[in-house]
Amino acid sequence: MTRIFSGVKPTGHLTLGNYLGAVRQWVAAEQEPDEALFCVVDLHALTVEHDPARVRRLSRQAATLLLAAGLTPEKCTLFVQSHVDEHARLSYLLECTASDGELRRMVQYKEKAAKAQGSGEGVRLSLLTYPVLMAADILAYRTGEVPVGEDQRQHVELTRDLAVRFNQRYGYTFTVPKATHPVVAARVMDLQDPRSKMGKSGDAGPGVVFILDEPEAVRKKVMRAVTDSDGGVVYEPAARPGVANLLDILAACTGGEPAALADGYTGYGALKRDVADAVVELLRPVRVRHAELAADPGTVEAVLRAGAGRARAIARPVVDSAYRAIGLLEP
Ligand code: TRP
Repeated sequence: MTRIFSGVKPTGHLTLGNYLGAVRQWVAAEQEPDEALFCVVDLHALTVEHDPARVRRLSRQAATLLLAAGLTPEKCTLFVQSHVDEHARLSYLLECTASDGELRRMVQYKEKAAKAQGSGEGVRLSLLTYPVLMAADILAYRTGEVPVGEDQRQHVELTRDLAVRFNQRYGYTFTVPKATHPVVAARVMDLQDPRSKMGKSGDAGPGVVFILDEPEAVRKKVMRAVTDSDGGVVYEPAARPGVANLLDILAACTGGEPAALADGYTGYGALKRDVADAVVELLRPVRVRHAELAADPGTVEAVLRAGAGRARAIARPVVDSAYRAIGLLEP
């Protein structure tokens, strides 16, 4: 049996990209005999300028949406990162395992630090150490597989390096995990800027479809998606990223092959209409279920409380053994 762990950061409303690239894979993973843990990683939301009330609201909303998307608390462990102290405890030991240079090389750090600096916010130290905390999230559970989007590959590689290094220096303690990526639509791109990822942290741009968008809003965004100046519908991600993104989304919603789907279209209008319909239908049941759950916050809270209890029971002995291995005295 493989243990699966993944996390979602409550820094923005969840998008179609999060749904197709991550959440839907989680729901599928849960159906297998593996043990799955899914975590709302709220500590990670504090690495950039944040509003406390918003983080609280988005954390609750993320948990509610994950349940609405089909995660079942009987089959997986859904919890909030800050409810389980072992993440922060282990993170410190891993800071003592990682090097400064290693973290400064992280592509996401370089991008986000430049952005924070540019806006005059200053760069929080936690932005640099963020991947170490992510490694702690993963290693505390002796995770085997980490289903994530492509943009997290480098962080999972770092996690592997830290696990191997710790094990070599201090004795076998951690499972060395591997990243897994969904085959289609691992990366849904922004509808207005198809060379960059459909992000949830950015503002509510016109190229971002949120899971909870009203059907009308979804249609509007899809119909206004930028295509490419060249007419004709062909699947060429490098040369024609706008059309390729629409085909990727359609394929992910309907289960076809993007290149084969392209053959069915002569113009952009029909393609966009079909994409809009497919996305609206895909998200409809999730929106309905979300509304039901949001009206009943006690249920979600109870799920999170039970989840944290189960998570703690797994992580505690692992982190304790890391404390002993690294040379800290037993209390
Ligand atoms: N860094 C991930 C992201 O931005 C979120 C995350 C934090 C995560 N900890 C994790 C993902 C552990 C997988 C496993 O999307």
